[in-house]
Amino acid sequence: MKNPVMTASGTFGYGEEFSDFIDISRIGGIIVKGTTLHKREGNPYPRMAETPSGMLNAVGLQNKGVHYFVDCIYPRIKNIQTHIIVNVSGSAVEDYVETASIINELVNIPAIELNISCPNVKQGGMAFGITSRGAEEVVKAVRQVYKKTLIVKLSPNVTDITEIARAVEAGGADCVSLINTLLGMAIDAEKRRPVLSTVTGGMSGAAVKPIALRMVWQVAKAVKIPVIGLGGIMNARDAIEFMLAGATAIQIGTANFIDPTITLKVIDGINDYLERHGFKSVHEIIGALEV
Ligand SMILES: Cc1cc2nc3c(=O)[nH]c(=O)nc-3n(C[C@H](O)[C@H](O)[C@H](O)COP(=O)(O)O)c2cc1C
Repeated sequence: MKNPVMTASGTFGYGEEFSDFIDISRIGGIIVKGTTLHKREGNPYPRMAETPSGMLNAVGLQNKGVHYFVDCIYPRIKNIQTHIIVNVSGSAVEDYVETASIINELVNIPAIELNISCPNVKQGGMAFGITSRGAEEVVKAVRQVYKKTLIVKLSPNVTDITEIARAVEAGGADCVSLINTLLGMAIDAEKRRPVLSTVTGGMSGAAVKPIALRMVWQVAKAVKIPVIGLGGIMNARDAIEFMLAGATAIQIGTANFIDPTITLKVIDGINDYLERHGFKSVHEIIGALEV
């Protein structure tokens, strides 16, 4: 990777939507929207709610399915000069396996990020990510068919995230990313109704950062594979904190909605920090937290 800064799935479209604002090839990697075997309409509206220092979403993995991705989206994005990584979701092990094997054939996609942690779909995603057995089972099955870099995205909605991280490492993951959104809820007191159509939704943004940082620190100590940190990164200082806690790379999600140029500002800010402190490379700050 040219730098450790990536965009988080579901917050940066397919990358091309942002090319009017920035040179997207400067970003270290773009993780595209959650992709499933079959088309998904997503959840009914309303599916967004603002919260103090964050937001709740219940988009529900709206996408046109992997075949549409291969035929219509891949040809448009395959020549973007950075790593394009596909986030893969499913509601059954077989769905994950079939989707991953189709994407395995795409020459310009060097990795997938397996989403076993989406809290916003009734049957899928998170169900696999909240038990060690479920997580290991799906990762093992995908590992059989997916030959390139396999990143597994972990759910924070668990008691001990290190247990799940160890299970996916045992299943054959090359790398873990964390965190996905935290399960939350908003109520409109005047209407005495939930704000989101799904009642509960996934919380993200600045407010989740301390939780994400703690989990990244714990997981980085628990596994040997690289850790990608995300959750509430709003600026370069936040990104550096995740790297000090042990993240090899980071992703930026909700912050893209506030400032579409944030990724480049974070890249420049990390370089500035390295220079100010006399470090030659980001490798010198990964896991460098002194406790
Ligand atoms: C609107 C929205 C859509 C998202 N869609 C996905 C998705 O399709 N797949 C996935 O793994 N994570 C998805 N996420 C979770 C983010 O990738 C990220 O894990 C989370 O928002 C925490 O990072 P942040 O605080 O920087 O946003 C979504 C988040 C938001 C806000």
